Amino acid sequence: MAHASENPQGRSDALVIEGGRPLRGTVKVSGSKNGALGAMAACLLTDESCYIENVPDIGDVRYMAEVLRSLGARVEWAGPGVLHIDAAHVRNVPPPSHLVASLRGSFLVMGALLGRFRRAACAPPGGDVIGQRPIDVHLQGFAALGARIWREEEKFWAEAPELRGAPIFMDYPSVLGTQNLMLAAVTAPGVTTIVNAACEPEVEALAHMLNRMGACIQGAGTHTIVIQGVQRLRGVVHRNIPDRIEAGTFAIAAAITGGEVAVEGLVSRHLWALIHKLRQAGVRVEAGDDYLRVTGTQPLYPLVVQALPYPGLATDLQAPMAALLTQAHGVSYVHERVFDNRLLYVGELRKMGAEVVTTGTTTAIITGPTPLVGAPVRALDVRAGAALVLAGLAARGQTVVSDLHHVDRGYERLDEKLRALGARVERTEAS
Ligand code: EPU
Repeated sequence: MAHASENPQGRSDALVIEGGRPLRGTVKVSGSKNGALGAMAACLLTDESCYIENVPDIGDVRYMAEVLRSLGARVEWAGPGVLHIDAAHVRNVPPPSHLVASLRGSFLVMGALLGRFRRAACAPPGGDVIGQRPIDVHLQGFAALGARIWREEEKFWAEAPELRGAPIFMDYPSVLGTQNLMLAAVTAPGVTTIVNAACEPEVEALAHMLNRMGACIQGAGTHTIVIQGVQRLRGVVHRNIPDRIEAGTFAIAAAITGGEVAVEGLVSRHLWALIHKLRQAGVRVEAGDDYLRVTGTQPLYPLVVQALPYPGLATDLQAPMAALLTQAHGVSYVHERVFDNRLLYVGELRKMGAEVVTTGTTTAIITGPTPLVGAPVRALDVRAGAALVLAGLAARGQTVVSDLHHVDRGYERLDEKLRALGARVERTEAS
């Protein structure tokens, strides 16, 4: 098992980019990272076999597979992109803390184990350093379902011999929080109503999967989710949704390089906010149900961008949008409204010639257009890394994005996909 500072192969690579070439061609979107993580956790709720299709082979999926294996689940690839998970012999033990620390989504095992065994323990999860990431709404929700919650050494424990449906108000519409509460509540007798639930497509997709396993969940995809507890869940063949953030990243790559790219195999209604903002910036976007054709045009207009919970512009596309706005004619404002410290990439962008200042930790002011020049930069988290790759594609000269394992956690074969679009990018093992 690789250390979290490396990729799952145990290496921390770098991406060498010779910028300045417009991307052209067609790219197919992989399965959703965050959709896959929720689906994998859901498999813990049944002792029957589950198959998840369209799973990306990325760092976070591999880490999550290790977490499930540590509990005794069988997790194996049953074909390209198909994950077979058999949790028949899962033991109710806390997963090793170092595995939990390798990704945020690992904390979903808490809700799933609580649902299955009425008792669960898990260390606080890891994940990107993008601000305070409390888990209070998860724990308050478990408590509302009748669980006693306590902390012992570094782990959270939850015990609910009589788990029961209940009304739950979430202080914040947390994505993983909503998923965790759904996982815990689907087998809780009675009715659970989650008010102020997250309505991201990954939440809706998890509810869809759980319903096909026998759960009774209504309203997922809205802010009120109603769950009627059922006794048991069965196995399922579930198809993971496309990765809207990867899709958005390629759309922005077309725009920032002045290229023309068809991004296929997506759900365009998951990307309304991005399509709207790209068009506002002057980018030509043709949107079909399952594809976008994006043509970078000149000039690009400056924008005011706000990263918000869905259906607002995804916080995971905030850094990539900032990279694009370095090429807009005028002053753009980027407000991060979801996380409290997700602008750390700004210092790296500046090394490439971007004119960006921050006010506090949540607003970036970008003056453009500034010619970007290649430079050695570091991927500080998965989306920050993606933003630097985009900047590198638009920059004159050579950019080396190091700490690529962060990007590898969330993007499947990014270098290969970019090369197929005509980018000059090479992966090297970092010294
Ligand atoms: N929050 C609380 N209390 C909680 C939980 C969250 O106050 O108990 C606050 C956080 O502090 C933050 C905000 O709620 O300010 C949003 O956090 P949320 O819980 O919604 O995020 P998450 O569930 O931890 C998931 C994705 C993130 C994505 C966010 C927002 C997974 C594994 N992660 O995180 O994905 O940015 O939702 O859409 O599903 C990524 O893929 O790069 C990534 C970071």
